Amino acid sequence: MDKNAKIFVAGHRGMVGSAIVRRLQAGGYTQVITRTRSELDLLDQHAVRAFLQAEKPDYIYIAAAKVGGIQANNVYRADFIYQNLMIEANLIHGAWRAGVRRLLNFGSSCMYPKHAPQPMTPERLMSGRLPRSRASRCVMRTTTNMAVSTSA
Ligand SMILES: NC(=O)c1ccc[n+]([C@@H]2O[C@H](COP(=O)([O-])OP(=O)(O)OC[C@H]3O[C@@H](n4cnc5c(N)ncnc54)[C@H](OP(=O)(O)O)[C@@H]3O)[C@@H](O)[C@H]2O)c1
Repeated sequence: MDKNAKIFVAGHRGMVGSAIVRRLQAGGYTQVITRTRSELDLLDQHAVRAFLQAEKPDYIYIAAAKVGGIQANNVYRADFIYQNLMIEANLIHGAWRAGVRRLLNFGSSCMYPKHAPQPMTPERLMSGRLPRSRASRCVMRTTTNMAVSTSA
């Protein structure tokens, strides 16, 4: 990436996003764009679209998500899948409309079947039955990552 490229890190205050920002800043990238949730709610499709059209970033990292442990994911299953689908769909589609060059959406071990051999490889995706405890997360993340690779 060009050191002066505009790079939007969504979820920059989280564990993954803050590490990405530190790494970019240490690497001399001069135009790292961030927004707090109160400045830009990524669940708001119109706001995301307007922001991306105005800023026109070259690159996007999606590190924003509703994240929780096994218990929270089980109890609030519908809320998790709704929020994460919306955040990722708004950013992926908005990025495509705004002409973003490249977008990085994270995978997760939860995308793989329970007994996928180690080390996990992309060929193992959708290759086996999913545990109920993380089936919705798996379907959501696999779907949005397919959207990213299909738009590339
Ligand atoms: N942590 C890991 O080891 C790991 C491993 C594999 C994959 N991942 C993936 O990496 C991504 C980030 O994980 P993380 O552990 O860094 O999560 P995290 O620490 O909880 O950070 C998530 C960030 O997303 C922001 N966010 C959530 N909803 C938002 C909204 N509606 N509008 C704007 N911002 C919003 C949060 O903002 P607030 O600060 O305002 O709450 C927070 O800063 C997830 O997709 C996760 O599946 C993480």
